[in-house]
Amino acid sequence: MVRILIIYHSQSGHTRAMAEAVAAGAGAVEGAAVDLKQVGDAGLEDLLTCDGLAVGSPEYFGYMAGQVKDFFDRTYEPARGRKEIFKKPYVVFVSAGNDGRGTVQGIERIALGYPLKKVYEPVVARGEIDEDILSRCRELGQTLAAGCEAGIY
Ligand SMILES: Cc1cc2nc3c(=O)[nH]c(=O)nc-3n(C[C@H](O)[C@H](O)[C@H](O)COP(=O)(O)O)c2cc1C
Repeated sequence: MVRILIIYHSQSGHTRAMAEAVAAGAGAVEGAAVDLKQVGDAGLEDLLTCDGLAVGSPEYFGYMAGQVKDFFDRTYEPARGRKEIFKKPYVVFVSAGNDGRGTVQGIERIALGYPLKKVYEPVVARGEIDEDILSRCRELGQTLAAGCEAGIY
């Protein structure tokens, strides 16, 4: 059984809807167990023990939400260099009003340091969350989980 950890922050529900769709996609893969957590409830142990990671954030002031940055701030030093972390597969999903690039860049830059391995292009939603975005989020989760389950990353 592979464990897929999905962590996110959300105030008005957009990123939460995306996270739930990522979870649905990952959960559809046989042999994958999904752990969906608000990022403030997740810590080092979650990061060390998952097989694949999905990080979701709204864009605030051109960057990731403070709570998501806080997760990286809390886990970076204790996780860095640990063999459980090395090149762990991860994906990103972002909800923005009209941009999202700063958030993706910020997360990807930090992820290089752990180092985590990006295994699929990010899903960036601009404005309302529609069925196309939810479907891409399901695909994101399914791809991450299926790849982890198959051991191809
Ligand atoms: C404090 C704050 C700052 C924001 N800054 C940006 C921004 O810089 N760029 C952008 O595209 N959207 C920005 N937005 C819009 C949010 O990214 C957008 O509404 C997002 O969908 C919220 O996600 P949520 O529903 O999961 O909370 C901002 C929203 C808030 C509350």
